[in-house]
Amino acid sequence: MVGYQGGKRRIGHHLAAVINEYASQHNLTKYMAPFFGCGGVTMHVTLPCRVASDLNDDLIQLWTQLQQGTFTMPTAAEVTKAHYEELKAGTKLKAGAKLKAGTKHEHTSQSMRAAYGLFCTSPLRYMSSFLKNGHNKKNTPQRLLDGLDEMKHEAQSVFLSVEFLPGRDYTQWKPRGGWIIFCDPPYLNACGYWHASTQKRMSFHAEKFCKTAGEWAQKGNHVFVSYNHAPLYQPEHWTRVWSSDFNLGTRTKRFERTEYLWFRGPTESQPMDAE
Ligand SMILES: C[S@@+](CC[C@H](N)C(=O)[O-])C[C@H]1O[C@@H](n2cnc3c(N)ncnc32)[C@H](O)[C@@H]1O
Repeated sequence: MVGYQGGKRRIGHHLAAVINEYASQHNLTKYMAPFFGCGGVTMHVTLPCRVASDLNDDLIQLWTQLQQGTFTMPTAAEVTKAHYEELKAGTKLKAGAKLKAGTKHEHTSQSMRAAYGLFCTSPLRYMSSFLKNGHNKKNTPQRLLDGLDEMKHEAQSVFLSVEFLPGRDYTQWKPRGGWIIFCDPPYLNACGYWHASTQKRMSFHAEKFCKTAGEWAQKGNHVFVSYNHAPLYQPEHWTRVWSSDFNLGTRTKRFERTEYLWFRGPTESQPMDAE
């Protein structure tokens, strides 16, 4: 299972169950995921039309290429610290540009960088340790290759019908109405996300996001937000439709977290029952 910072793999099926039920009660068929990440919720959503994107265009390129079968898997010999450094240096290349012409690496810098980036995040820390320390018993290139293989399998099965749009900021979505929009935005304490087009880390304005999500609902869309706190703008318009406590962490360092799902629908629709 592919891990992702803030990923919803463990609880995705709970959130998707609420969304699927709401969609069938209201005859809704269109679903949008502006914060796709690794699709922990989207993979369980059964609406016939699913559209997704993410600010991280590298990641979207990776999913698109895996889905279309155009991503060239690296060989184990290619997965080296030097290659990683080369990819990092390549962040200054234009989006989609190839690495140095004539080198044996044929991947575009973007998708391969996303692949490495993913496997450097928790809980797959072994990869970042591999990149720092080189190979050892645990940190083998094979781990990254297995993870990529799993993503490829998902892209060509559960995500096959997902239409990936080029990486974009959530504010670029202008849904006219009738969409279910599932948002899993960065949490308040997230320190910044990679913005592929500007090549910078950007901080995330939670209040501005809550305002935009409210405007989507006012335009006739049905908005679900996965947040560990109440929406920061007009909280009285949001209903908490699901919550659960989770025991997370490692064997030695455990912590509790409560996850919530918030809902705001079009003004004229029946509000969803609070839990
Ligand atoms: C918590 S993660 C989503 C995890 C996803 N639900 C999963 O299960 O893998 C948040 C995502 O929001 C994306 N993101 C951050 N700022 C964004 C923005 N302004 N517009 C769109 N996506 C953004 C990040 O790149 C990241 O993939």
